Amino acid sequence: MLIQQGVLQLRFQAEANRLNLSLLETQIASAKRKFDLTSTGWNGYRKFEIIKAVPEAKGIASFYLKPHDGKTLPPFQPGQYLTFQVDIPGREKPVVRCYSLSDCEHESYYRVSIKRVPPPVGSPLTPPGLVSNFFHEQLAAGDIVDVQSPNGNFVFDPFDSRPAVLIAGGIGITPILTMAKSVVASESGRELLIFIGVRNSDDHAFEAELKEIEKLPNCRLITCFADPLDDDIKHEGIRYQHQGRIAVNLLKNYLESTNYDFFICGPPPMMSGLTEQLSRWGVSSESIHSEAFGPASIKKMKPSSGEVAAGANAKGVASVEFSKSGIQSEWDGSAENLLDFAIDNGVNIDSGCRAGNCGTCLVALKSGKINYNIEPGVEPEAGTCLACVAVPDGDVVIDA
Ligand SMILES: Cc1cc2nc3c(=O)[nH]c(=O)nc-3n(C[C@H](O)[C@H](O)[C@H](O)COP(=O)(O)OP(=O)(O)OC[C@H]3O[C@@H](n4cnc5c(N)ncnc54)[C@H](O)[C@@H]3O)c2cc1C
Ligand code: FES
Repeated sequence: MLIQQGVLQLRFQAEANRLNLSLLETQIASAKRKFDLTSTGWNGYRKFEIIKAVPEAKGIASFYLKPHDGKTLPPFQPGQYLTFQVDIPGREKPVVRCYSLSDCEHESYYRVSIKRVPPPVGSPLTPPGLVSNFFHEQLAAGDIVDVQSPNGNFVFDPFDSRPAVLIAGGIGITPILTMAKSVVASESGRELLIFIGVRNSDDHAFEAELKEIEKLPNCRLITCFADPLDDDIKHEGIRYQHQGRIAVNLLKNYLESTNYDFFICGPPPMMSGLTEQLSRWGVSSESIHSEAFGPASIKKMKPSSGEVAAGANAKGVASVEFSKSGIQSEWDGSAENLLDFAIDNGVNIDSGCRAGNCGTCLVALKSGKINYNIEPGVEPEAGTCLACVAVPDGDVVIDA
């Protein structure tokens, strides 16, 4: 694999030289290629046909995808996601988004399940989520989409002997369902406690699939409805076990100790709240695995008063220069990351997942050092950085 990667890198380098690309362009393209090669499947984007779209709950639909070239599908690890590049009419450039695989391995298809994203609460005039709504409204069986091979580090081993707690909030069910289904498919017998949190039965996707998983002797399913409908209340104890949100006090009713691996995927407040509560309960950080859908939600601790802001020097500021745009600005730690800082300063850097996973925001770091406020899905090569999860460590010059 390493030799193959090396040969591909050399070929790519030769091709780049022939095209007379600048050194920086070559460096950045090579780093992007490294992102492609770290996944188990194909390189770059591959065409997939949507074979069917199936509604799963209010505003949630599953899309089944088969390779357009008819060739085989590579395996993936439970918890990984696909990266899509979508051409939306009226948009200058294709848009990149990630969607977790929501079913375990099948010979002929991959499945992703997408929730329509509405405008933010209180901003009805803001356009709704671009790609999620495009999938729901414009794409159907027979349409073709461009897809990168499965990727991501939020992965689950069905054969691990340690019991696991799987926790899903809302659409965060997608990787968690695949993890649970991998225990069924592999017949590994790994002990599972699955906690599902949704608003009510309207939002409860995959109820039948979860009930099937629950038939395993080594599995227990606990469903929480935060705001049950009148009709739901009649089925308390059957369709759901608890009214309210998932919190560590609830987990303690079911877990004999802290000796579990925890896998969490859900909305940012749930993830950061649970992670903090689990740490306070004594669960080690190595035992807590989580994935943010979108802007990184679990960040390193903010500097305490008296400390300078992340990325700033002793005077409290750092210089960030965007060399291509000819813009220089002072970083005072108020932006979350270099991507937001660039956008605030009128510098365009393409982005996809905004969580350090897809590689779209990779830029060359011409000078200076950066730190990551969350660990990227794939560590970028030296001399490049993922702007969406990076903060400057002193003065930096970025090729954007
Ligand atoms: C690893 C990973 C896995 C994921 N897996 C899944 C999955 O399995 N299923 C799933 O449904 N999602 C998943 N996501 C989330 C998904 O990738 C997208 O982030 C999500 O679908 C939203 O994308 P969008 O294009 O629809 O919304 P966007 O266009 O990105 O909009 C997001 C929000 O911003 C608002 N907005 C738009 N324009 C503006 C503006 N000018 N000012 C202020 N607000 C604005 C929109 O109204 C919307 O509320 C995953 C994300 C990651 C990183
Ligand atoms: S936008 Fe995906 S890694 Fe930064």
